[in-house]
Amino acid sequence: MSTVIDLRSDTLTRPTEAMRAAMARADVGDDVYGEDPTVTELQERVAAMFGHEAALFTPTGSMANVLAVASVVRPGEEVLCDSSAHIARAELGAHGAISGITMRTWTGERGQLDLAAIESMYAPDMGPFFVRTAAVSVENTHNFAGGAVLPLDDLRDLRAWADTTSTKVHLDGARLWNAHVATGTPLADYGRIADVLAVCLSKGLGAPIGSLMVGSADAIDEARVRRKRMGGGMRQVGVLAAAGAYALDHHVDRLADDHAHARLLGEALGLDPESVDTNIVVVDRPDATAFVAAAADEGVRIAAVGPRAVRLVTHLDVSRADAERAALVLSRLVDR
Ligand SMILES: Cc1ncc(COP(=O)(O)O)c(C=O)c1O
Repeated sequence: MSTVIDLRSDTLTRPTEAMRAAMARADVGDDVYGEDPTVTELQERVAAMFGHEAALFTPTGSMANVLAVASVVRPGEEVLCDSSAHIARAELGAHGAISGITMRTWTGERGQLDLAAIESMYAPDMGPFFVRTAAVSVENTHNFAGGAVLPLDDLRDLRAWADTTSTKVHLDGARLWNAHVATGTPLADYGRIADVLAVCLSKGLGAPIGSLMVGSADAIDEARVRRKRMGGGMRQVGVLAAAGAYALDHHVDRLADDHAHARLLGEALGLDPESVDTNIVVVDRPDATAFVAAAADEGVRIAAVGPRAVRLVTHLDVSRADAERAALVLSRLVDR
């Protein structure tokens, strides 16, 4: 009997034996006291990777995003982002409900930046008349746009514009590692275009949990207080940070395999494989729910992420053979 191939998300991976061994060995302390050496080392390592002063370990990418955005947007101010950004669509209103900020969105082709739209939406401080635009948020890679990479040149143009208006840039880099591997862009180049970032260890990198906010020392000090207020002050959490450190050592370069597998799946679904940038494929299916159910009947789990949108994500627990089998199943369903 063949096993189920689960392509619903790259968050579904289970820690490998070697990762579990690294977790078991971790040196730990109380991180609310700043005394967990494994967490401290991970935070310093990730901050340095992006050329920033400091970083803060968080349980989730959503919390890292909430803390990061709140560090550059004050209550009553706004952040601009793409209409299908994770912060707008999938964080359940946290930025409004918790941080008291508002959002306005542009709709970019495949989640891309639209600097002209941003310029026309931008609202400077006009006292009691308009909500002030404090930041622009970009997502790279872009989840609901099918793992699309945002070109570095576009990000640099945004940075240049932001500097002329004192607008801050937040980068949701839950899958920035995928963009880095797909394009060869150094992580520090991504770090340079952002005032504040969020990165995840629990997506393609395969850690069971863990994300980081990255930014200035002052922003991180403030975020540490907010994190505690939100109930996110963790104690001997080095056991989890060790999984993240292991993932950074062993699971970054292999993301190229996930990208190749995603291209295979994209092609099976009738897409141009060149249009699949990284490890996510989103395809337009008018029968999204029925298509997902038919694939499940054949042992391939995929997800409907909208009434007409089906998403497939490759990851550490999907082998080449799995990807080939899933591609065969999906191409048959497309032809049915
Ligand atoms: C682009 C992006 N940002 C942030 C997150 C939030 O991560 P978490 O599920 O750890 O809260 C996700 C989750 O999939 C994501 O895809």
